[in-house]
Amino acid sequence: MKEDNQLVQLQKELQPWLTAGTLYQAILSSPKIKGEQSANKIVMRPVQLKEGLFYQFESYYNNKVLHQNIPAAEAAETLLPLIQDQYKQTLIKEKSTHLHILTNKKGLLSIKRKRNEEQIPEQIIQQHNRQKRRVLEEGTPITFLVELGIMTSDGRVHAKKQDKFRQINRFLEMVEDVLDYLPTDRTLKIVDFGCGKSYLTFALYHYLSVEQQRNIEIIGLDLKSDVIQLCNDLAQKLDYKSLSFLVGDIADYEGLSQVDMVVTLHACDTATDAAIGKAVNWGASVIMSVPCCQHELFPQVSNEIFTPLFSQGLLKERFASLATDGIRGQLLESIGYRVQMLEFIDPEHTPKNLLIRAVRPDVLSFNEQKWDQYQQFKQFLAVEHSLEKILKSHLPS
Ligand SMILES: C[S@@+](CC[C@H](N)C(=O)[O-])C[C@H]1O[C@@H](n2cnc3c(N)ncnc32)[C@H](O)[C@@H]1O
Repeated sequence: MKEDNQLVQLQKELQPWLTAGTLYQAILSSPKIKGEQSANKIVMRPVQLKEGLFYQFESYYNNKVLHQNIPAAEAAETLLPLIQDQYKQTLIKEKSTHLHILTNKKGLLSIKRKRNEEQIPEQIIQQHNRQKRRVLEEGTPITFLVELGIMTSDGRVHAKKQDKFRQINRFLEMVEDVLDYLPTDRTLKIVDFGCGKSYLTFALYHYLSVEQQRNIEIIGLDLKSDVIQLCNDLAQKLDYKSLSFLVGDIADYEGLSQVDMVVTLHACDTATDAAIGKAVNWGASVIMSVPCCQHELFPQVSNEIFTPLFSQGLLKERFASLATDGIRGQLLESIGYRVQMLEFIDPEHTPKNLLIRAVRPDVLSFNEQKWDQYQQFKQFLAVEHSLEKILKSHLPS
């Protein structure tokens, strides 16, 4: 029967997603039979339990919500009859695909497939990721980590370098999440601005070139010539052929005409804005930036309502830092980037732990609403921010 064939096909499509945990949400709505017995809506999502990957079915009744956890291997058996027999509409969200399913009275499905254009909710992915294999595993020596003094030559992470190892892994996990945004048809060009000792630059090279076998070219740029010399020596020693380091100021860098990914880790104060500006002008597909020393707004922010905050230097400083990063995100969103603010590492290790991750959709369209919100915000706080000036050619005058 046609309905049965459809279900078999759908199961074939869903099962790999369910097993991999890349199907991160299914919403079933419009129940065929309304009444106390049937839930108005069911939301299914992956949960990582001690026993492995499960899918949680959250059923919304008029006055209660019930939960049931089903092992990933059996989730399709629970989900498919619900789609066919009980709900008229289903939306399935997978990392790269959306399925919109309409089910008629006889159980026939009409399925529309679309590329997933939405921001993938970080918590849901994290819940699953937290338990998954780290990108870099302890136990096997990884040459660049040994050379950087993070690992011993037999693959153990030095006790004092555990935080650094975690930080590198966390960074690579966040890169892994946006790999799909990077082009695959050419050599990827990546710039790490304010690279310093370049732990992350080497990590990125190892991950993309050695592990992912992508064609890449990475440039690290920093003001400090002694550090750059050391980094170039190490790149040579590791035989990382398309990794090079240059001395220079971010704002003056003109070495490339097109870049796919821009990284900054703790590039001080407005150096982060210079880097974001370069990235946007290059049309970079991915921007990953952990700001620090956000001093620019501190002397500017002013609003009487905020006296309880602004009369205390420490609180004012924290507020000004957050406002700075909020403005950075809002301006990128105004231009059309999709932005997520992520916790880079546990705040107990460093307060500089916010990562701005921005990805460029295929078509960049200006977002008036975000722009208006930005205008109101800056007027409310009586501030002017460098990034707006840097990005002026992308913004209304
Ligand atoms: C706090 S360090 C971080 C280094 C490295 N990214 C890391 O996280 O280990 C900041 C680095 O940014 C560099 N830097 C600051 N302003 C810069 C600019 N305008 N152009 C290039 N490098 C800059 C500094 O020289 C310094 O090495």
